[in-house]
Amino acid sequence: MSALPDINDDLYIPQMGRIVETYPMTQREKYFRLELDRPLGHRPGQFVMVSIPGVGEAAISISCGPRDDSVLEMVVRHAGNVTGAMHRLEAGNYLGIRGPFGSGFHLEEFEGRDVLFVAGGLGLVPLRSLITPIMRHHERYGRIRLISGARTPAETLFRDELKAWNALPNVEVIELVDRTDQLPWDGEVGLVTAPIARLDLDPARTLVALCGPPVMYKFVLMELGMHHRIPREQIFVDLERRMKCGVGKCGHCQINSLYCCKDGPVFRYSTVAALPEALA
Ligand SMILES: Cc1cc2nc3c(=O)[nH]c(=O)nc-3n(C[C@H](O)[C@H](O)[C@H](O)COP(=O)(O)OP(=O)(O)OC[C@H]3O[C@@H](n4cnc5c(N)ncnc54)[C@H](O)[C@@H]3O)c2cc1C
Ligand code: FES
Repeated sequence: MSALPDINDDLYIPQMGRIVETYPMTQREKYFRLELDRPLGHRPGQFVMVSIPGVGEAAISISCGPRDDSVLEMVVRHAGNVTGAMHRLEAGNYLGIRGPFGSGFHLEEFEGRDVLFVAGGLGLVPLRSLITPIMRHHERYGRIRLISGARTPAETLFRDELKAWNALPNVEVIELVDRTDQLPWDGEVGLVTAPIARLDLDPARTLVALCGPPVMYKFVLMELGMHHRIPREQIFVDLERRMKCGVGKCGHCQINSLYCCKDGPVFRYSTVAALPEALA
């Protein structure tokens, strides 16, 4: 009898997660806190496949740092069938959760280094899984800078956390919006690229983690290269592609020879810089 392939059941069979807290963060995004049957055991930057029976499945980033308990935090934008159905759920309802998937960030690589985070819009959600553990032990790191941008004040996410992080001794948080709206705004107005040139970054010590809409990458990477000469292997980009299986079988998420679900979604810029489709 031939041996069966070594299948990690967690990747194929969903466990049920009970929603213990959910609330709208903006008009389009909703926060979810789930209690799972068992801990996910994830790395920052990984994602889960979230399913609703009879509706479908969608890739959603894990927004909390690694943790020993069975809690999972996510922020979901209403985009279509699955995410729309998720927006109609409330505390006490259940979701199917497969994963964790993807490469993610290796937290230990960041220890002792200066860190720059650049988050555009919903990009703050996956980056928060790396930001939270680094901020919790900020004394283990050098200078920590976080640039977080949104289109308008009404679309900003996790503002209380951004303020609390900014109050830590070796941390600077720069908040920006593209344009103001009716809400009060005490941050800067402009694109996330604007403050990069003025930062005092040490290219030998600094690691950069970047996540945002596709258009953001090209300009942020240009600023980092032009003004700071940060080596490409010290820059991590978190890339989103449409996904189905999440385990490198269906080809939906392929970028040239790489599978975003398995090799990413976090890549070193040095790995993807030469791939024409990666940052297009
Ligand atoms: C690794 C990864 C992490 C993600 N993390 C999050 C997250 O934390 N929060 C969140 O809200 N969303 C996240 N997404 C995007 C999310 O997976 C899609 O918005 C979701 O699959 C849409 O499913 P749906 O059934 O609601 O929409 P559908 O009914 O399938 O589609 C609705 C519309 O969205 C478009 N669409 C579907 N999937 C994508 C996609 N991946 N990229 C761009 N457009 C798409 C379709 O073309 C269509 O126009 C992530 C995606 C990936 C690949
Ligand atoms: S989602 Fe199927 S190969 Fe990546």
